[in-house]
Amino acid sequence: MELRRATITAVSHYVPETILTNADLEKMVDTNDEWIRTRTGIRERHILEHGATSDLAAKAVQQVLAQRGITAKEVDLIIVATITPDMMLPATAYVVQEKIGASKAWGFDLNAACSGFLFALSVAARFIETGVHSKVIVVGADKMSSITDYTDRNTCVLFGDAAGAVLLEPTDDKKYGILDQCLYSDGSGGAFLNLKGGGSLHPASHETIDKKMHYVFQDGKAVFKSAVVCMADVSEEIMKRNHLQSNDIAWLVPHQANLRIIDATAKRMGIDHEKVMINIDRYGNTTAATIPICLSEWWRAGKLQRGQNIVLAAFGAGYTWGSMLIKWSLENPEKS
Ligand code: ACO
Repeated sequence: MELRRATITAVSHYVPETILTNADLEKMVDTNDEWIRTRTGIRERHILEHGATSDLAAKAVQQVLAQRGITAKEVDLIIVATITPDMMLPATAYVVQEKIGASKAWGFDLNAACSGFLFALSVAARFIETGVHSKVIVVGADKMSSITDYTDRNTCVLFGDAAGAVLLEPTDDKKYGILDQCLYSDGSGGAFLNLKGGGSLHPASHETIDKKMHYVFQDGKAVFKSAVVCMADVSEEIMKRNHLQSNDIAWLVPHQANLRIIDATAKRMGIDHEKVMINIDRYGNTTAATIPICLSEWWRAGKLQRGQNIVLAAFGAGYTWGSMLIKWSLENPEKS
């Protein structure tokens, strides 16, 4: 069977209006703007005050459909990458399906934390390549404020809420689209980054609430060390596998968890700072949404152009990590 090639044919994002600045956080916990900026690169993040992850996701997906000029009924599959589903049951993919009216689609949620969008994009590509589906929505959406303890300075300065979405379709020209990916996981990392309460191991109880087990826990130092090594290794691996020099790559699109992790990855790849998509200063870590937000913003600004090689790279809870090589096919918005 000859495989088709999958490519991104529309991209958009949605960020809620309310902004939480470092100055705001100074009033909530023992922290300061200087520490947050120098240790993470974050200046502010957006918070969804009312609503759920599906509201963020639905807005991003609706914009993607409008951009491509298709109706929701034409969508075959919806994959929602998230660690903050609206509910344990049903999956957020079905809530999004209902909200946008994608009555002919099926879908599922994918939980790979900050690598979620990358993993979901890889899964979606297989459905296109094998000819099973022709229109697949991949949305990375997280309402991190719903699992953040705003009395814990170790985590509350890091996260924000947002969604980013793409439409994946087949392309006739096999030069373009999703060309390769390297994906990994290591379950031993679960000890350092987790949310213990509310699952089958620790069902919700007074005790799980008293012990703050419904909030994200992170051993920042341990996660930082693994993130720096894994994201750089996997980005170097995809370059070597595809015989790419740093000059061949137009953009590095890294998960936005910490500016120092991003810088270390770019350095290992030999990529200049100007060729790295960075918006962590404005949004913080929006988990599954960071990479599609970057793609959407850079494309909208006319900086991401057809024919460019881009490398996506992520690291997150699991541990999960990976990289992906894409030859961008979507025309610059001014030309299309
Ligand atoms: N303000 C002021 N001081 C703080 C703050 C804060 N907000 N947070 C921690 N500190 C203090 C600590 O208490 C510690 O003080 P001590 O030395 O007196 O004990 C000191 O600052 C240093 O703390 P570290 O944890 O060593 O700080 P570090 O430089 O490692 O930065 C950070 C912490 C930003 C969390 C970093 O470790 C990091 O980015 N880790 C990786 C994050 C990541 O990639 N996560 C994966 C994706 S997330 C997901 O999948 C959901």
